Amino acid sequence: MRLDKLIEEKLSTTRKELKRLFQQRKVLIDGQVEQKQNRNVDSQLHEIIVAGTRLTTDAHYFLLHKPAGVVTAKKDSRFQTVTQLLRPADFNPAIYPVGRLDRDTSGLLLLTDNGQLGYDLLQPDLKVQKTYYALVNEKVTIADVHAFEQGICFLDGTRCQPAELVILSATEKSSAVLLTINEGKFHQVKKMFLACGKKVTRLTRIKMGPLELPQDLALGDYRPLERSELRALKKYFR
Ligand code: URA
Repeated sequence: MRLDKLIEEKLSTTRKELKRLFQQRKVLIDGQVEQKQNRNVDSQLHEIIVAGTRLTTDAHYFLLHKPAGVVTAKKDSRFQTVTQLLRPADFNPAIYPVGRLDRDTSGLLLLTDNGQLGYDLLQPDLKVQKTYYALVNEKVTIADVHAFEQGICFLDGTRCQPAELVILSATEKSSAVLLTINEGKFHQVKKMFLACGKKVTRLTRIKMGPLELPQDLALGDYRPLERSELRALKKYFR
């Protein structure tokens, strides 16, 4: 959570007192004087000491195996949403999905109430890699691999960054591929294949940044991030 909000909440400081704590160099993160008042912290990752007092946060991070048919939203008038998959004991209204998977896409989705982390993970400058497993309705060729490497241009003229396409199997009627992209345009994977005249018939996200879809996580199920997974996200706390 935001460091200034945490201090205000835990130490009941006024805005003026908060400013003074920073000016007097009394805010330490991992033993270093911190000046960035709005930086993102989590006490599972950072040692947060303010005027000698150790502060703790209580953000939640869940890794969901999103099934197809569920929408990536908090509320929807027609379909079940990803936050409705949370058990009542895990639900709180601040938890939201980081990024968006189409309704018919399955796979890894991070849910959190650390809004700053969710926001930062989607910033283009961080280039958080996403890997998808896709089934395509016809033969994916080496020419497609090269086109993806060069940067696909959508039918509307939008240019994508270079992407890595790996062919797992390919016949005239269907192909299985892995695709890694560094950005997150709307319907990006489907549109990239459409630009090559091909149609994605099934799409599953298997990686996002350092997070991987666990093999043993059933469709529709979720679990808290493990300590090692959260630690791998530390570099995105800024
Ligand atoms: N690209 C798509 O086309 N759909 C998704 O759900 C994710 C990436």
